[in-house]
Amino acid sequence: MRAVDCIVKKRDGGSLTRDELDWLIDGYTAGRIGDEQMAAWAMAVVLRGMDDRETADLTLAMARSGEQLDVHDIAPLTVDKHSTGGIGDKTSLVVAPLVAAAGMPVAKMSGRGLGFSGGTIDKLESIPGFRAELTTAEFRTVLAHSGLVIAAQSAELAPADRRLYALRDVTGTVESLPLIAASIMSKKLAAGADCIVLDVKCGSGAFMTTLADARRLAATMVAIGRHAGRRTAAVISSMAQPLGHMIGNALEVREAIATLQGHGPSDLIELCLTLGSELAVLSGRCDDHAAARALLRETLASGAAWRAFRGMVVAQGGDPAVLDDPVRLPHAPHRVALVAPRAGVIQAINGAALGHVVNRLGGGRSHKGATIDHAVGLELLVQLGDAIAAGAPLMRIHAASAASAAAEVPALLDAITIGVEPVAVPPLILELVR
Ligand code: URA
Repeated sequence: MRAVDCIVKKRDGGSLTRDELDWLIDGYTAGRIGDEQMAAWAMAVVLRGMDDRETADLTLAMARSGEQLDVHDIAPLTVDKHSTGGIGDKTSLVVAPLVAAAGMPVAKMSGRGLGFSGGTIDKLESIPGFRAELTTAEFRTVLAHSGLVIAAQSAELAPADRRLYALRDVTGTVESLPLIAASIMSKKLAAGADCIVLDVKCGSGAFMTTLADARRLAATMVAIGRHAGRRTAAVISSMAQPLGHMIGNALEVREAIATLQGHGPSDLIELCLTLGSELAVLSGRCDDHAAARALLRETLASGAAWRAFRGMVVAQGGDPAVLDDPVRLPHAPHRVALVAPRAGVIQAINGAALGHVVNRLGGGRSHKGATIDHAVGLELLVQLGDAIAAGAPLMRIHAASAASAAAEVPALLDAITIGVEPVAVPPLILELVR
């Protein structure tokens, strides 16, 4: 077989066989196939798509590309949550400790920023000392000790996805339903969680912008999970506007800490309770969703979820003094207010555009392996449907220099639509796929 033949077959709209996909993924993992050919194949997939059989075969090939973790000797049943990626999405930082503190161990592998969206690992690494790159032995030790571990995908686990994820980030090949489904589910299957809840984001701040695409992605991933014997459900949630107020790595950690300490934004809390209660029911921890919500509300209110987060971060090397005093998180030297050019109603917020701004400010990568500035980002001061006066603050830009903030003003003003008509704000939870 030759990689170029696989690329041409996909470019011309064909379906790769299971053997061809196994060969391609094996070759890429082993280094026999290089980034240039994989990037060309990924672009062909973006443009031509994949059928369900191909997507499932790709997922299994990627899940089998490395070690497959089994932590049943430590925790008889583990749960996991994964998002398809959205703007301001710090949900994992809250849901994981929330469900762990409620008696559901979480063994989680997460990603770094991807395209215009941030990643859980980049966010956690804004805490000085935090180590996300754990060996399998360290991953198991933290899980045994804390009942909760969030690590970067280890080099041994789904290495094909690890390489492909970083390649897609910088080659414009993120926005593909089959590639997203295979990327997420290969990691989830290899990391061994028994129960999986998927947060499928839909809207301007997500990779799936229509409900029809979000439904297809959710159904594809739930089917792959079930086929592999995992209890799997999905929540389709709105990304018509960013989640919470903060966008950017350290800013999002600050907001997650505030949420765990009982002062979070209502949309973030609602999404966390919804995702957490799906896990509580899937895992059998609670009989129904009402009981699950009550348990999780109590876990948040008692401070148990905050203690679980703190325990995990400290077990992974994070500085407890920073957690206890989050103003010590990295902060940008320049904070510049962006004000409304006219009075009106906030009718649309283009989340992807805001994500691109954060990347350009230094919060994301422009090439594989680039270093990022954890401190930069945006603090949104308005929401969809808000009525604002001319000159009212729309957001605060957190930037490394006054010039980099100023350069983004036109893009930011473009990302916020101010009109005269009232708007119908979509519900946060759009659908459940159980
Ligand atoms: N999250 C992932 O892990 N992979 C994707 O492709 C998109 C979101």
